[in-house]
Amino acid sequence: MDPDELVPAGARATSPGAALAPARGDAEQRARDASEDGRARRAGLGMRLEQLRAFYGDAEALRGIDLDFHANEVTAIIGPSGCGKSTLVRCINRMHEEIPGARAEGSVLLQGLDVYGPGIDVVAVRRAIGMVFQKPNPFPTMSVFDNVASGLRLSGQGRRERSRAALSEKVELALRSAGLWDEVSDRLAEPGASLSGGQQQRLCIARSLAVDPEVILMDEPCSALDPIATLRIEELIDELKRSVTIVIVTHNMQQAARVADRTAFMLDGRLVEAGPTREIFTNPSDPRTEDYVTGKFG
Ligand SMILES: Nc1ncnc2c1ncn2[C@@H]1O[C@H](COP(=O)(O)OP(=O)(O)OP(=O)(O)O)[C@@H](O)[C@H]1O
Ligand SMILES: [Mg+2]
Repeated sequence: MDPDELVPAGARATSPGAALAPARGDAEQRARDASEDGRARRAGLGMRLEQLRAFYGDAEALRGIDLDFHANEVTAIIGPSGCGKSTLVRCINRMHEEIPGARAEGSVLLQGLDVYGPGIDVVAVRRAIGMVFQKPNPFPTMSVFDNVASGLRLSGQGRRERSRAALSEKVELALRSAGLWDEVSDRLAEPGASLSGGQQQRLCIARSLAVDPEVILMDEPCSALDPIATLRIEELIDELKRSVTIVIVTHNMQQAARVADRTAFMLDGRLVEAGPTREIFTNPSDPRTEDYVTGKFG
């Protein structure tokens, strides 16, 4: 998706997206590499948070966050329970505002285009920035096939599919990209709930991939999974970053160290520091980061 698509056509005359085409460099090369194996269609986009604040009623949960997410990298968000990690990711794709009494301030720039800007199509934002939750949440009685197709139908893309065959092709591609096709190709009509927990989580990833997102937000995607299923998701994240930008919230320091290119440490609604994962874990600049990553609190 082009960032321009976040603005409805009628409102696009002065589209801020029009001026947004910085060179993608390495990311573009990675996308080309990825397309050689037939999986990825395009590169992910970079994002920048500027003075992002979030409220639940009068309570301030995010107190002005500035943070960059590099295109086609995995950024881990770490920090103790209640510091605002889930709130942060929900603000990025504008799901936070769905909670009664909740609101956000500041900017979330997707390749320079503010998803909180005027005239932005919220449905398009959520298509461009997909989300995977802690507990796998496939539609339990819906078939495996329809779970993946539902993303396309909900976003209106299903209507554009000329035929069942074209839809099937998209569903298969998403399931392949999520590393699930070989396990479910002969179970497409079975209900989503018939899959194992790890398979259900990959099904949810397939559902979010089906609509060609630029970014995928994952909020503790492995916390309900066993170590083998967790490893499978981590391998998948490593493959997916060739075609999307990934933000992952995790309580597992080893997981952050394994999958994340960059890590951001939060405390009490604020960003303490962010940087290359190795640096955050071995040579953080703030003593609070060191205390957290070495297990002194949290
Ligand atoms: N729906 C809500 N209504 C009111 N306050 C909320 C709501 N969700 C979160 N909060 C509050 O916002 C703050 C940040 O919560 P958030 O869920 O973002 O933390 P978190 O870092 O994801 O924690 P955890 O690691 O436990 O998932 C907390 O003080 C929390 O109590
Ligand atoms: Mg959380």
